[in-house]
Amino acid sequence: RLKLGALAGTCNGSDEQIPERYIRTEATCEEVISNYHGDMAIPIIDLNKLLSPQSSEEECVKLRSACQYWGFFQLINHGVPEEVIENFRSNIIEFFSLPLDAKKEYSQLPNSLEGYGQTFVFSEDQKLDWGDMLYLQRSLKIRQSLDQYSSETKSLSLCLFEFLAKAVGAEPESLLGIFEEQPRGMRMNYYPPCRQSDKVIGLSPHTDVVGLTLLLQVNDVQGLQIKRDGKWFSVDALSGAFIVNIGDTLEILSNGKFRSVEHRAVIHPNKERLSAALFNYARKDMMTSPLPEFVKDGKVNYRSISYRDLLSQYFMSQLDGRNRLERLQL
Ligand code: SIN
Ligand code: FE2
Repeated sequence: RLKLGALAGTCNGSDEQIPERYIRTEATCEEVISNYHGDMAIPIIDLNKLLSPQSSEEECVKLRSACQYWGFFQLINHGVPEEVIENFRSNIIEFFSLPLDAKKEYSQLPNSLEGYGQTFVFSEDQKLDWGDMLYLQRSLKIRQSLDQYSSETKSLSLCLFEFLAKAVGAEPESLLGIFEEQPRGMRMNYYPPCRQSDKVIGLSPHTDVVGLTLLLQVNDVQGLQIKRDGKWFSVDALSGAFIVNIGDTLEILSNGKFRSVEHRAVIHPNKERLSAALFNYARKDMMTSPLPEFVKDGKVNYRSISYRDLLSQYFMSQLDGRNRLERLQL
């Protein structure tokens, strides 16, 4: 893995001349659908409704369809205290506001995903993303605010795993055993502005390898886009909501009932954007293959792969849309 200079510090949002390695021809030519409504909009799921007996069933139906057709939903009334989110937000902003040298003290170490810098970069010719990242895994506890956020989002994730299983008629515990006591990872993203924003990409098109991701938009600048039926849709993140998405592991475990949908981050011409993704990993020692509970009709749609191999293939190559996942489909 090449360790690369951090973009925010080296380019500083420079718009005069974008360094060649950041210029993306594909960024400009695809149509993006924005301001869509109704059935076409990313579903909003209300955790209060899932939890209350009168409305739970109806909300579960919405949840199932969100995960089948979009692979994404926005979660409101999620119960994570505002104060915890606010402290976490200000810590992230504080980190990325540090001078470059101070941030570099957190640089990724060789053979570790953790730290400050870009991931998924393997050659000098590869195009780079217009973004700056801090990834934490074992050391989620470096600050109290991260610790609180991490434990709140852990309970929330586990609750969602239960409802996801329930939504497709599986035992609520079926996913818990796989995700309950497992590591979580947190990636904080800083996307500097770029006046020629259509020439760069903040985060290349990819799916998440994990079970479930909880994304928090840290400031109020939008930039997430998801791919559906070959078209990019921009996501209008609701303030205070989590954007939740299904990852590859859960698509495979659910035998394709839930979809791991390709997404990317785009850049704003004159505003910086920050986001933070909380990744729920599965048990390292398992084989990743559809769970019997999700294969009631008998046809298994994915070949099985050890979870270690799934992860190492993912982290040892460039981000590649849904391609790697599709190679596992039968
Ligand atoms: C991600 O896919 O992890 C981040 C996307 C975003 O910044 O909105
Ligand atoms: Fe992602």
